[in-house]
Amino acid sequence: MKRYAHIIGWGKYVPSKVLTNDDLAGMVDTSGEWIRTRTGIVERRIAAPKETTATMAARAARDALQVADIDPFSLDLIIVATATPDHLFPATACLVQDALGAWRAAAFDLSAGCSGFIYALGLASHLIAANAYQSVLVIGAETLSRITDWGDRSTCVLFGDGAGAVVLQASDVPGGVVSTVLGADGSGAELLIQPAGGSRLPASNQTVAEGLHYIHMNGPEIFRFAVRVMDKATREAIEKAALTLEDINLLIPHQANNRIIQTAARSLRLPQEKVFVNLDRYGNTSAASIPIALCEAIEGGRVKRGDHLVLVGFGAGLTWAATVVNWAVPLPMPPVSRWRMALRWLRYRGAAIESFLRRWWRRLEAIVKVPFKSK
Ligand code: UT7
Repeated sequence: MKRYAHIIGWGKYVPSKVLTNDDLAGMVDTSGEWIRTRTGIVERRIAAPKETTATMAARAARDALQVADIDPFSLDLIIVATATPDHLFPATACLVQDALGAWRAAAFDLSAGCSGFIYALGLASHLIAANAYQSVLVIGAETLSRITDWGDRSTCVLFGDGAGAVVLQASDVPGGVVSTVLGADGSGAELLIQPAGGSRLPASNQTVAEGLHYIHMNGPEIFRFAVRVMDKATREAIEKAALTLEDINLLIPHQANNRIIQTAARSLRLPQEKVFVNLDRYGNTSAASIPIALCEAIEGGRVKRGDHLVLVGFGAGLTWAATVVNWAVPLPMPPVSRWRMALRWLRYRGAAIESFLRRWWRRLEAIVKVPFKSK
């Protein structure tokens, strides 16, 4: 029997600290007016010192699991799409797995810049269709504020922090993720790059002094590339789903710049009401932008059962990606009962205790174990 991958849960988390355009105008040589007219951004969220990509991803994931009404233990796989992992290794997805107590799940990170969430969604839906997995948690999460040069007006006005998550589940009901188009062009790698901190240019006093651990971007080049691929990827994904542009109810684009979004919408001949925009409040949150937008579109009543959605993104790599989702879950979802919420809260407390015990057990094993002796 053919298997389909449906989005059955969604959640988002954004930090509470708001950084407005006016705040930025007091930090670098810019103005609120310039930022708003050139990008559409009015404010963005900035992670608190204790917040990280993993903690925000886990918060979004908990909400998504709540909506899906499934236990973290039943997850088979967790993918975190991010360009700002907590560490180069271990994967942020493993930290999320630990925070959720999703002990059965495999976990890994996916790096495809701002296209990462759609890459992960496409991969997860193919794994479900191939009968490899039943339930997959797909997260896009970023703490871009930690790699932003707050003295560089050409980049610092653009980015924000946050996380969005969806639960994908196998079903024999037709619909869900119906087509995915993924693309890359590594010849544009240097156009959007964090030059240092990897194996080519390991972190050193010199790389830090030269600001090579920050985001470096050629804005106008990325702009041109974005407009081209948003149109192309959207059309390809729709064609692959055997649909036409008229069948599309809502386009949820990567939230980088409202001028990019509007240019793409015009070339696709999609009216305003079919395009979802929330970058005025969050700025560009890279891999988190599309799942946060999807979540808000659902919560705002912009998605109905039977709708065809297109999610489309572009970013570092260079990469691009688009997917068509045929929404099959009835909306709005019935509210989760208090006792189920309490039960889940207890479940997460239990996961924290189990994680603690696992760490202590490992230490105990190391003490009790007969030490290895070489001759
Ligand atoms: O997720 C994917 C990541 N990135 C993107 O999607 C970014 C795509 N690119 C863009 O969104 C736009 O290129 C930007 C918003 C980054 C820049 O807008 P632009 O219209 O392409 O500006 P520009 O880079 O061509 O610069 C125009 C002028 C320059 O001044 P001069 O040389 O004309 O005197 C810049 O120095 O604007 C100046 N400028 C600023 N002025 C005030 C650049 N940043 C600022 C600023 N405030 N924040």
